[in-house]
Amino acid sequence: MDNTNEHTPLKASSGIPAAENNVHSNYRKITGNLPTKIYFASGIMLLVAITAIAINPRLNEDSLMSIYPMEGKKLHKKCKANPNYSKETLKTAYEMPFAALFEDTRGEKRFEASSVTNVNGTFYAICDNSWSISKFASSLAAFSEQNTMIGDPNREDEDSGYEAIFHHSDVFYVIRESVKHTNETEGESCYHAIIEELIVNPDGDDYKIKDQCRCEYEFEGDSKGFEGGFGMEGVDGNFYVFGLCEGNFCSEEFKFDKGNGKVILMKKNETKCLWETVKTIDIPSTANFRDYSDISIRPNGKVAITTQEDSALWLGQMVGVQDGKVDPEIISFDDDVHEIYYFPKADTCDTVYCNVEGITFINDEMLMAVSDKMKSKGRQPFQCLEKDQSIHAFVLP
Ligand SMILES: *[C@@H]1O[C@H](CO)[C@@H](O)[C@H](O)[C@H]1NC(C)=O
Ligand SMILES: *[C@@H]1O[C@H](CO)[C@@H](O)[C@H](O)[C@H]1NC(C)=O
Ligand SMILES: *[C@@H]1O[C@H](CO)[C@@H](O)[C@H](O)[C@H]1NC(C)=O
Ligand SMILES: *[C@@H]1O[C@H](CO)[C@@H](O)[C@H](O)[C@H]1NC(C)=O
Repeated sequence: MDNTNEHTPLKASSGIPAAENNVHSNYRKITGNLPTKIYFASGIMLLVAITAIAINPRLNEDSLMSIYPMEGKKLHKKCKANPNYSKETLKTAYEMPFAALFEDTRGEKRFEASSVTNVNGTFYAICDNSWSISKFASSLAAFSEQNTMIGDPNREDEDSGYEAIFHHSDVFYVIRESVKHTNETEGESCYHAIIEELIVNPDGDDYKIKDQCRCEYEFEGDSKGFEGGFGMEGVDGNFYVFGLCEGNFCSEEFKFDKGNGKVILMKKNETKCLWETVKTIDIPSTANFRDYSDISIRPNGKVAITTQEDSALWLGQMVGVQDGKVDPEIISFDDDVHEIYYFPKADTCDTVYCNVEGITFINDEMLMAVSDKMKSKGRQPFQCLEKDQSIHAFVLP
C-alpha cells in the first residue's frame, strides 16, 4: 500500500521545502558582501588543503575530500573501493517498465507493483493500487501478445492493497496487506490481512473470486501488515501460507529494530473462513534489514527475501522443505546458510533500485523482481525514477 511508506524516515524527504526557503533568505542576507565572503572562505579552504599536503605528502584524494566535501565523488569511491563489489552485487540481465508490456493496459497508468510469482515459466504480478493480475512471459517483450492483464483494475473503489501473489492447484492466492475490521463483540477496530482465492476464467481475461478469508494474525494498523507471501503444500496434505511481515517484529512501533524479521505460517479453517496461525518463524538476524518486501521458496527449500529500504536480497535455506512440500512441525530457517546480494548501483554508487517489492526465482541462477512506483513529492531521491514500476531479471554473481 502506498500509505505503507508514509512513515519511512527518508533523509531526503520532509525537510526539502523548508530547506529551500532557508537557502533563499540566507542568499538575500549575504548577497550584499558576497564576493568578499566567498573569497575569504575559499582562501581558508585552500590554505588548509595546501598545508595538509605539505605536512603529509602522501595525502590521497580521500583525505582531500574530507577537507573539501564532495558527496557524489565520495559515494562513488565507496563502490570503487569495494573489492567485493562484483561478488555481492546482482547483475541486471534485462528489464521492462510495466506500461510497455501490454498492448492494452485497461486504462491503468500507475503500476505500484508489489509481488510476482512464477507458474511454469509464466509470470504473474500484482499491484497494490489495482485489482488486476499482470500476466507476462519471461522474455519481458514490449507489447507482446503473451502479456495480458487479467481482471478489472477497478473491481472495487478502494485500492486492492494486494501485497503477495502465489499459485497452487489452479488457484491464485493474493494477500491484502492489512484491512480494518470492526469487532462485533467489542465494537472496536482491529487490523487483519485478507487472503483472496482467485480462479482465472478459461478465456484468460478475467477471474472469479472463490473465497475471501481473514487471517487470524492481528496487526497494529493498516500500514504494516503482510508485504509478501508464499504458499506450499504440507507433508500432511494441507495447504500452508507463509505471510511475510513488512516490519521487524511484525510491528509498526518496532519496525526499524533491524534483524527481527518474521514469517507467520498459516493454515485455513474452511468452516470458520479463517487462516489460523500455525506458528511464527524467525528470519535469521543475518537478514539485518529495515523492512522485508517479498519471499520466494524453491521446491528444494532455497529461499529469497528482498528488502526495499536496504535495496538488497537475502538468500538462505529452509529446514523442513523438501520436494516442494513443507513439514509444519520442523519448518524454520537454517541459521548457517545465507548470502546477501545488493541490487546494482548507479555509476555514482547511488541506490537506483529503491522500490523492489516482489521477487521470484526464474531458475537457481536467476531471479525476477518487480518495483513499485517511487514515492512522490521529494520523499525519494530522483535517481529512483529510472527503475520504478518495472520488472527486472537479475543474475546471481
Ligand atoms: C571481501 O570479501 C572477503 C571474503 O569474502 C572478506 O574477507 C573481506 O573482508 C571483504 N572485503 C571488504 C572490503 O569488504
Ligand atoms: C504446469 O506444468 C505441469 C506439467 O507440465 C502441468 O501439469 C500443470 O498443469 C501446469 N500448471 C499450470 C498452472 O499451468
Ligand atoms: C473480537 O474480540 C474478541 C474478544 O476480545 C476476540 O476473541 C476475537 O478474536 C475478536 N475478533 C476479531 C475479528 O479480532
Ligand atoms: C475449524 O473450526 C471449527 C469451529 O471452531 C473447529 O471445530 C474445527 O476443528 C476447526 N478445523 C480445523 C481443521 O482446525
